[in-house]
Amino acid sequence: MIKMTFLVVGGFLILGILADVQSTFAATCTITTYNEDLIKDAEKNCATITLNGISVPAGVTLDLNLNEGTKLIFQGTITWEFFQWNGPLVNLTGTNVEISGAPDHLLDVRGNLWWDGKGEGGAIIKPVSFVVHRLKNSIIRDINIKNPSYHAIWIEESHGVIAQDVYVDSIDGDTLGGKNTDGFNVWTSNNVTIQRIRVYNQDDCVAIKSGTNIVVKDSYCSGGHGLSIGSVGGRDYNIVENVSVSNIEIVDSDNGVRIKTNYGTTGSVTNVTYENVTLKDINKYGIRVHGDYGSHDGIATGGVPVKEFNLKNITGTVKETGVNIHIFVKNASDWHWTDVNVTGGKVIKECDGIPEDSGISCY
Ligand SMILES: *[C@@H]1O[C@H](CO)[C@@H](O)[C@H](O)[C@H]1NC(C)=O
Ligand SMILES: *[C@@H]1O[C@H](CO)[C@@H](O)[C@H](O)[C@H]1NC(C)=O
Ligand SMILES: *[C@@H]1O[C@H](CO)[C@@H](O)[C@H](O)[C@H]1NC(C)=O
Ligand SMILES: *[C@@H]1O[C@H](CO)[C@@H](O)[C@H](O)[C@H]1NC(C)=O
Ligand SMILES: *[C@@H]1O[C@H](CO)[C@@H](O)[C@H](O)[C@H]1NC(C)=O
Ligand SMILES: *[C@@H]1O[C@H](CO)[C@@H](O)[C@H](O)[C@H]1NC(C)=O
Ligand SMILES: *[C@@H]1O[C@H](CO)[C@@H](O)[C@H](O)[C@H]1NC(C)=O
Ligand SMILES: *[C@@H]1O[C@H](CO)[C@@H](O)[C@H](O)[C@H]1NC(C)=O
Repeated sequence: MIKMTFLVVGGFLILGILADVQSTFAATCTITTYNEDLIKDAEKNCATITLNGISVPAGVTLDLNLNEGTKLIFQGTITWEFFQWNGPLVNLTGTNVEISGAPDHLLDVRGNLWWDGKGEGGAIIKPVSFVVHRLKNSIIRDINIKNPSYHAIWIEESHGVIAQDVYVDSIDGDTLGGKNTDGFNVWTSNNVTIQRIRVYNQDDCVAIKSGTNIVVKDSYCSGGHGLSIGSVGGRDYNIVENVSVSNIEIVDSDNGVRIKTNYGTTGSVTNVTYENVTLKDINKYGIRVHGDYGSHDGIATGGVPVKEFNLKNITGTVKETGVNIHIFVKNASDWHWTDVNVTGGKVIKECDGIPEDSGISCY
């Protein structure tokens, strides 16, 4: 059953009825029980769609191809029945749309049902939670995702997307076997801004796998593997260009600032700047750039050159058992670092491939 409210221009509420969605009027529609036909109807006919407290059946994607200008609102607690598959649990596409959560909402993935401490390598297949695909000039805001089974959010093949005030809470994963619970992954997208996110997880806070003109700012990452570019290489599209990461606090994470490129692949990472990043209690590497990702014999390759890598005002602490700065790349050039002061790490690891004349050293 869908509750519809018809409005006329001028704002007078003329009618509020309970009915199936058949109207061609711009309407506000609320769906409280999962039903594919109702969702398809709402997709066609409703200017605002509210999904309130629905439980999505096992192995089903909450799939909405939104009309231009649609507002999609999550309300109450949304859950998915357990099923072993790759997902995604949500897959949204559209132009000029607004995807948001009402103040009380929660996308409760209940990832603990899948968690086995092994992540993507485990015998249990775990779905990606929330995918936006070919989203154009749109905003995603005020979304709360709890306990993702695997990666929380993918932004793929999208252009002109702002994601803001998103909270990924996988704190339970620390004790219940959460792994590979990435906050955001960006793939093959242009002009994406991610801001004011808070991510508590067990893998990358943000992983920019490919894409151009990406901004990540004013955010907080805890417990994971750091704010990463990559891993880059070996996919259909392998370019990362014009990335700005600023005003970020990264705490209790395995890495802070990180670029990882895949061994034996091609692509490029060009013009990446991290500015005003504070690190606290990093476990393994404060700053890490490595071209040996996926190599079993620890060899870095240069098919994905890291060019114009700028760091400004990167400060903070690594635990004694960690390394402050580790660089292990081939073919890197044109790096500019200023006001980098990462301290506390006591372990020294052999470095290789630091661009000549950059004045950078590992320690
Ligand atoms: C999301 O849906 C689109 C079709 O709209 C499809 O092409 C894409 O593969 C889906 N994404 C995932 C991760 O399944
Ligand atoms: C980037 O995306 C934002 C948000 O949709 C939009 O306002 C802006 O015009 C886009 N910029 C360019 C250069 O396309
Ligand atoms: C590098 O990217 C930034 C945006 O992050 C942009 O302002 C700047 O012009 C780019 N630099 C070059 C040389 O393209
Ligand atoms: C990177 O930014 C520069 C400067 O704004 C721009 O000229 C260039 O086209 C951008 N690169 C891409 C791939 O958009
Ligand atoms: C360095 O970044 C921190 C935030 O991480 C900020 O508080 C501080 O003002 C910045 N310092 C400079 C000199 O930009
Ligand atoms: C970094 O922090 C300084 C000092 O607060 C500020 O002036 C500058 O704009 C910040 N940089 C960015 C990219 O936000
Ligand atoms: C270095 O990168 C360039 C592309 O910028 C590529 O042509 C070359 O093969 C790379 N060299 C190595 C040793 O990988
Ligand atoms: C670097 O940071 C440490 C504390 O983490 C501080 O004691 C030291 O003075 C700083 N060095 C510089 C050059 O700012």
